[in-house]
Amino acid sequence: MRLPATSDENTMHTLVEPHVAHNYSPLPVTAATAEGAWITDVDGRRYLDALGGYSAVNFGHRNPEIVAAAKAQLDRVTLTSRAFGSDALEPFCAALAELCGKEMVLPMNTGAEAVESALKVARKWGYDVKGVAPGHATVIVAGGNFHGRTISIVSFSDDEDARGGFGPFTPGFTRVPFGDAAALADAIDDTTVAVLIEPIQGEAGIIVPPDDYLPEVRRLCTENNVLMIADEIQSGLGRTGTTFACEHWGVVPDVYTLGKALGGGVLPVSAVVADRDVLGVFHPGQHGSTFGGNPLAAAVGHTVVRMLAEGTWQARAAELGEHLHARLREFVGHGVIAVRGKGLWAGIDIDPELGTGKELCLRLAARGVLAKDTHGSTIRLAPPIVVTHDEIDWLVERFAEALSS
Ligand SMILES: Cc1ncc(COP(=O)(O)O)c(C=O)c1O
Repeated sequence: MRLPATSDENTMHTLVEPHVAHNYSPLPVTAATAEGAWITDVDGRRYLDALGGYSAVNFGHRNPEIVAAAKAQLDRVTLTSRAFGSDALEPFCAALAELCGKEMVLPMNTGAEAVESALKVARKWGYDVKGVAPGHATVIVAGGNFHGRTISIVSFSDDEDARGGFGPFTPGFTRVPFGDAAALADAIDDTTVAVLIEPIQGEAGIIVPPDDYLPEVRRLCTENNVLMIADEIQSGLGRTGTTFACEHWGVVPDVYTLGKALGGGVLPVSAVVADRDVLGVFHPGQHGSTFGGNPLAAAVGHTVVRMLAEGTWQARAAELGEHLHARLREFVGHGVIAVRGKGLWAGIDIDPELGTGKELCLRLAARGVLAKDTHGSTIRLAPPIVVTHDEIDWLVERFAEALSS
């Protein structure tokens, strides 16, 4: 392993990007190239990517199998729109449906689009199948949720940074505390068409619910003829040591929303996956996307599904995740208040006396580790699953230095 030179975070400059909208507050690192779990910046410094594109880079940067599939498809056909067929789409959808144990796939591009699409499916299913009075469908969501940034999605967020200044909001959503099945039971009524939930809340700080929560959500949805939609955009496709985070609790939702890693770290690919009695409610003209399911995306997504079908990525994430969590737990009571997560996904609450999450991420970046903060003093880790045991130890040593500096 070639180690990055360390530097002082005080000498790291902020990025100068006058033509880029200021909707992010990036760390002062400018990537030039990347391979596997490592990013090299424009000055040749190397960083262990412990964020992994918020789980979009599960299989490593420029994974050779995925890049080869993309290149092969680039030489054939890349975009037809859904006005015509392509020989890549049906095999991709069939394979993804099989991976999910479902019958149909609605291919989209970004995660937020998949969530929006699932909400449309749920409303349409509510009117056409469940028989909810037109215009009255409601969807129940969880407090602390993060499902993207479109108007409808921020409409049911409780994060003022995400919502503030963007009203008027889309009606038809009820929010209940995450992890509280009794509150969910109270909120369900005849207008409820779906419960939309992250099985483990990512942006909120890798919040793992109590063990009886998701089975109870499943039971309530079944009992009340309500669709359970699991947003596995960040938690799914190997990240937590299983194909889907829901598997940790033996739960199968009615609808999956997938994204991020489905694009293999190469391009945006997302999907809504469900059985025919749910996804079949869409008819031509009722939903669409010029790029959704394009041949390039389908070739990449199909490769990702093939890679996951063997279970080796999931097993690797589980094994390395145990090591990561064991090492991180050593810090509890020594600058760290709590560590949460499953598989190669960790939320670390830093003692606020030692600095903000952002400050700690700057200290980590200066030592060659890229991570991201959330909600003040929480650090998120989601390294690519190609990361090694030794690299995790190296990361943990840098974390110890950053904590004590
Ligand atoms: C659970 C979840 N859903 C949806 C999204 C939105 O995905 P995208 O940024 O691709 O729109 C995210 C992004 O972080 C997410 O974590």
